[in-house]
Amino acid sequence: MEKTFLMVKPDGVQRGLIGEIVNRFESKGYQLVGGKLMTISQELAEQHYGEHKERPFFGELVDFITSGPVFAMVWEGENVISTARLMMGATNPKESAPGTIRGDFAVTVAKNIIHGSDSPESAEREIGLFFKEEELSSYEKAV
Ligand code: CMP
Repeated sequence: MEKTFLMVKPDGVQRGLIGEIVNRFESKGYQLVGGKLMTISQELAEQHYGEHKERPFFGELVDFITSGPVFAMVWEGENVISTARLMMGATNPKESAPGTIRGDFAVTVAKNIIHGSDSPESAEREIGLFFKEEELSSYEKAV
């Protein structure tokens, strides 16, 4: 079954949105198979956002993501990678539709509440960066 990496960013944690966000994915029908509140090191932030290294906002991005605890998660389900992206809304909250997480809760692109893997390759890479195999659970889901 497909898995994706989702992370409530420091702004989402500070605004008390962990429960709201977990609820949206659970209500949709996805399964939480890993989760932890953690503070990201500089090294992990630079690895995680490595593809943005040359962007002018890279320093700001790393400073922000290490500025306070994040809630890192692994979710499982059919098409969870692309559907989670739809549920999150466009990266820039100026363009994210009402009803999406960013559309409902965010105003600026830097503080956009949530990160989600954008492809099967990044999901595998990001899950591996944040979670050890034994930190992921497998359990029966009631329907
Ligand atoms: P995310 O999905 O976590 O992936 C990369 C992040 O870079 C993105 O969400 C935004 O929060 C952030 N980002 C994109 N553009 C900018 C920008 N112009 N200034 C600051 N952060 C940005």
